[in-house]
Amino acid sequence: MPKRYKITVVGAGNVGATAAHWAAAQELGDIVLVDIVEGVPQGKGLDLFEASPIGLFDSNIVGTNDYKATAKSDVVIITAGLARKPGMSRDDLMKTNAGIVKGVAEQVAKYSPDAVIIVVSNPLDVMTYVAYKASGFPKNRVVGMAGILDTARYRAFLAEETKVSVEDIQALVLGGHGDSMVPLISCTTVSGIPITEFISKEKLAEIVKRTANGGIEIVNLLKTGSAYYAPSAAAVQMAEAVLKDKKRVLPCAAWLEGEYGISGVYCGVPVVLGANGVEKILEVPLTTEERIALQKSAGEVKSNIDKLEI
Ligand code: NAI
Ligand code: 2OP
Repeated sequence: MPKRYKITVVGAGNVGATAAHWAAAQELGDIVLVDIVEGVPQGKGLDLFEASPIGLFDSNIVGTNDYKATAKSDVVIITAGLARKPGMSRDDLMKTNAGIVKGVAEQVAKYSPDAVIIVVSNPLDVMTYVAYKASGFPKNRVVGMAGILDTARYRAFLAEETKVSVEDIQALVLGGHGDSMVPLISCTTVSGIPITEFISKEKLAEIVKRTANGGIEIVNLLKTGSAYYAPSAAAVQMAEAVLKDKKRVLPCAAWLEGEYGISGVYCGVPVVLGANGVEKILEVPLTTEERIALQKSAGEVKSNIDKLEI
């Protein structure tokens, strides 16, 4: 009999509620939405459940303030915490969100000791480290979402510029989720044809810059919060890879122990994502410039981890 999966989404705000929506629409499993605010996860969970006869998905969806309902989840997506407002960097969120993510990860470990945790809260790479330490889970079962989002932004802008389908743009954006992210030009192709055959170096540089500023571009437009459609879609793509054991090759924040010459830090790299979480870290050949940029980006994450008092 096919297994019915259980997905917990912690944080019923913009990213969490939209992640629950994508996951339900894809019928990935039953969903528990958790938040500290009373009524909000319950209301959003009920509203989403009431959409099921229209969307034609069979998912039990409940909202709660109590982790008991999350017991034995297969995947837990952590989106709890503050989001950026104009003028705030992701690092401004660090101290507050570290306390929140630590408490959440402890509850997740208590009630769902076999889950794969997908962290979304910012600053992403540091919060993934906090969840790793607080859960006590092995490194393969705690993974961060950022690279898929950053790569999706890059792919969307490239598709728009080259006037080809987004499906045919392949790319990889590595590094920490911040201004120092590293789009790999050498891995950017249109169905295997180098991107430089389609657009000028100057235009490509402009798109790389827009990608690095992709988060703040949305913050400045929204003014009251940050992006959530693309971030939640990315987190759910990761959940799907785990639940269906798809062995997807995706850029995710993984715990590095010497790969790319980097150790003791979470950083965005290409991984094979399957039922066991991060099943393999892939080391793609980098130019000297890309390697230096990746190590610099990881160094920035590390210095932030060192500032944590948890
Ligand atoms: P939001 O403010 O809409 O939702 C956050 C929710 O977390 C709120 O409902 C709040 O009540 C809840 N919360 C706070 N403390 C909690 C706790 N201890 N337990 C359970 N729930 C708690 O924010 P949004 O837009 O959903 O963003 C969530 C986080 O995701 C932010 O930190 C944001 O910066 C981050 N983010 C990360 C991205 C990435 O690429 N990794 C992309 C987009 C957002
Ligand atoms: C983003 O990149 C705010 O990190 C979030 O949209």
